[in-house]
Amino acid sequence: MGKIVLHDKEFRLFMKAEKIDQVITNMAEEMNEALKNSSPLFLSILNGSFMFTSDLIKQITIPGTQISFVKIASYCGTHSTGEIQELIGLKEEIRNRTIVILEDIIDSGRSMKHLLEYLKQKSPKKIIIATLFYKPKAIVYPIPIDYKGIELENDFVVGRGLDFDGLGRNYPDLYILNK
Ligand code: IMP
Ligand code: MG
Repeated sequence: MGKIVLHDKEFRLFMKAEKIDQVITNMAEEMNEALKNSSPLFLSILNGSFMFTSDLIKQITIPGTQISFVKIASYCGTHSTGEIQELIGLKEEIRNRTIVILEDIIDSGRSMKHLLEYLKQKSPKKIIIATLFYKPKAIVYPIPIDYKGIELENDFVVGRGLDFDGLGRNYPDLYILNK
């Protein structure tokens, strides 16, 4: 499909699924080697990461691998920070474990910064960040990304788990907003 319409916006095909699959396969191979003795706990950040997680995890062969699907709840509070972040769905013990965060996309880095602060309080052994897409030019909160999938310009994309106002997550290819 060359283009799709979501709500009132048109998106054009930007990257075929096969290219994205290859990047994920390479990432899985690197992880299998680098994390082979770590019994990692993969934290898949919903909703956007469901497809990336599924594609990646099928290729992970590390003994002791666990996966938890979590959701970030953020809401404004009356605390001085003005923001409280919580992880919904996290049942596994974090303390002393190697955590691999799986994100669909890192844009400003704001969500990841808050997530890191939250997880660090739980004393993990190590936190590793893996993202399928990232936009280096959009970064406002610099964070160390261990596994960077595909670099994007400052454009809005959908597909491969990413949505525009709830639509478009289901497409295996990546689409870019037509301006
Ligand atoms: P952050 O700015 O790095 O905190 O990214 C926040 C969230 O914005 C991501 O987790 C995505 O859900 C969403 N997001 C950022 N860029 C895009 C995009 O191009 N398409 C769809 N969602 C995006
Ligand atoms: Mg997200």
